Amino acid sequence: MSSIKVIGGGKLKGETKIQGSKNAALPIIAATVLNKGVTILKNCPKILDVFHMIKVLNELGCMATWEGNTLIVDTTTITSTKVSESSVQKMRSSILFLGALLGRSHEVSIAYPGGCSIGKRPIDFHLDSIKSMNVSQEFLGEDKDIIYCHTDKIIGTDVFLKFPSVGATQNVILTAVLAEGVTRIYNAAREPEVLELCNFLIEAGARICGRGTAFIEIEGVRRLHDVEYRLPADRIVAGTYMAAVAAVGGEVILHDTPVGQLDSVIRVLDKIGCSIRTTDEYMRISSNKRPLPYGILKTQPYPGFPTDMQSQLMTVLSIADGKSTIIEEIFESRFQNVSELKRMGANITESKNKAVISGVKRLKGAQVVAHDLRAGAALVIAGIAAEGETIVRNANSIERGYEDICRDLSILGANVQYCSDNII
Ligand code: UD1
Repeated sequence: MSSIKVIGGGKLKGETKIQGSKNAALPIIAATVLNKGVTILKNCPKILDVFHMIKVLNELGCMATWEGNTLIVDTTTITSTKVSESSVQKMRSSILFLGALLGRSHEVSIAYPGGCSIGKRPIDFHLDSIKSMNVSQEFLGEDKDIIYCHTDKIIGTDVFLKFPSVGATQNVILTAVLAEGVTRIYNAAREPEVLELCNFLIEAGARICGRGTAFIEIEGVRRLHDVEYRLPADRIVAGTYMAAVAAVGGEVILHDTPVGQLDSVIRVLDKIGCSIRTTDEYMRISSNKRPLPYGILKTQPYPGFPTDMQSQLMTVLSIADGKSTIIEEIFESRFQNVSELKRMGANITESKNKAVISGVKRLKGAQVVAHDLRAGAALVIAGIAAEGETIVRNANSIERGYEDICRDLSILGANVQYCSDNII
């Protein structure tokens, strides 16, 4: 366990580069299993979630090596189709190996992922859709929590998703790529990371139409081939650093920002007083006053405002000059930061999925806990905006998705550093 120590004060100034995208990397790493060969992934972020995916690849008998930020995955041989319980518990995205292993080996055994700090997170859409593709499912073990799926032949079919789930859309795509016939996904998720998975698979020889839309059609092919692919920059990491500028002021240039994927975030930050200029290569964001309140901010599936930016905006709005409301529409318990921000002097009332935030002039440094990845990043921003010293405990959860948040924010002038829990 590690912590992050933040000394608040001062504006942000400088330039930094945005790392590769976590949510694009994870499904694509699972997808490498569909190719009996070597896949080269450039601009792959060195984060805990990627390391966990590599661990699963190793459990399956595959090899992965790093050259800088390039990940080379050799899936020529697979010796197991079992994803261990501990892997799924450590990282829910291991569930993406369900579709990938089925596609490759027609068999997979994987533990049922439990809920996590942001909600119950069931996988019924994944299982129901995959079952309809001629896949048998059995629930094994004492607690019936091991899912064993097998088939002699995956057969493409029409899949209707009740909700445009990102993970379920990706799992169906992974199952369908090497299936017999055509799979059509209705109400597919339109998140950029679904588009990215499709782009990768098409480069590797898959046949997919409608990528990036709510209707995706996949025509099964016999095999995929080796491919070298560059992962895009992480829109949520970029959004996090934009939120930091909104909270404390200053002027920052973010290189390699996926500007086109940040429309909804840019609109919100513009409305609360930031000035944002974009080119194809970078984004310049500045702010020279206390943030304005927002009215009602609702999280929604893409292209709506992302739930993964909700905590960061809660920090910003907690020091806005007035009252704002956040309604969380995606995950049922994503307000764990309310109690942490209150510890820092924020004025927030919460009921169910609605938080009413009355901005205070200044937050005060405190000892707080990062309950999840984005909540943790939001507390680091709160620390920079606060008076005095803030300690963010359980910083490991931030390392799940940020290569080095302390490095990036220090480059921009913040006083932020990792420290061990023992010396606090
Ligand atoms: C992905 C992202 C996560 C992001 C989320 C929403 C990755 C690795 N993670 O998570 O960062 O916050 O999309 O944009 O890309 N649901 C069901 N049944 C299912 C599947 C989902 O009820 O079978 C519900 C979930 O509980 C949740 C909602 O649907 O309330 C959205 O979940 P989903 O889009 O599946 O999120 P993830 O893919 O888990």
